[in-house]
Amino acid sequence: MSTTKIAVITGGSRGLGRDMALKIAEKEIDIVFTYHSNLEAASEVVKTIENIGRKAKAFQLDTSNIKEFDSFYQKLTTYLINDYGTEHFDFLINNAGTGIYKPFTETTEDDFDDMLNIHLKGVYFLSQKAIPYLNEGGRIINISSGLARFSLPNSSAYASAKGGVEVFTRYLAKELASKKITANVVAPGAVGTDFGGGENRTNEKKVNTISNLTALGRVGEPEDLGGVVAFLCTEEARWINGQRIEVSGGIFL
Ligand SMILES: NC(=O)c1ccc[n+]([C@@H]2O[C@H](COP(=O)([O-])OP(=O)(O)OC[C@H]3O[C@@H](n4cnc5c(N)ncnc54)[C@H](OP(=O)(O)O)[C@@H]3O)[C@@H](O)[C@H]2O)c1
Repeated sequence: MSTTKIAVITGGSRGLGRDMALKIAEKEIDIVFTYHSNLEAASEVVKTIENIGRKAKAFQLDTSNIKEFDSFYQKLTTYLINDYGTEHFDFLINNAGTGIYKPFTETTEDDFDDMLNIHLKGVYFLSQKAIPYLNEGGRIINISSGLARFSLPNSSAYASAKGGVEVFTRYLAKELASKKITANVVAPGAVGTDFGGGENRTNEKKVNTISNLTALGRVGEPEDLGGVVAFLCTEEARWINGQRIEVSGGIFL
């Protein structure tokens, strides 16, 4: 049976998840990741990881649709058994997500459901269904947001879901301790990705405002984040549990 460690990352095709996948692969960990619709981006990530010298596999998954999860784990475990001789893996990184910027007074029930489904309910049940397959000593890393600690207008539904995932992570850390599985949250500040229509890259006013609020004076890049998540997948990070690690260059200090 293989002794290779394996990480499963949701939303690994672009943005933060892509950089996490590359940085984790550099730690000599094999990668399975999901994408939603961008097969081309997913294929590029697979090739880049293979060039690093690790195995990588991409699966399509809508992480807001709990009904897809059983068939996802069926496909994942079939792949793991075929390629590694085990249905187990070591790290689950719940990263996939979309954003909606709308004032509280204009947020619809559908908007709210979209945010809850992708950022909380999906994370909750994808994690629950992962437990039979997570090795002892495994880790769950959930991606939250600085917006769960401080408030900026137009993100009430998104940030409420992220707040929920932070509470959920502390419960995971407590309830999975008997299996020696740890759970932590990484909370990025604003990062220049495609997220929320790419505003953190293209909206000059917003970029300036965030830069001025941030001690290190700029918006984050995906490369500021991936290595932190990769560190949480190392032996050195084994005693970190139930924590929220904000990676924001120091915003709203
Ligand atoms: N960027 C920021 O400023 C920021 C700040 C704090 C927290 N975050 C959090 O960081 C995480 C990643 O954001 P990002 O900035 O990297 O976003 P991104 O660049 O837009 O990438 C989103 C990723 O999630 C996947 N995805 C989107 N909808 C999905 C769905 N319904 N089911 C499954 N996968 C889906 C995408 O797949 P496809 O490529 O197939 O579309 C892509 O891989 C999110 O949880 C976000 O809330 C971001």
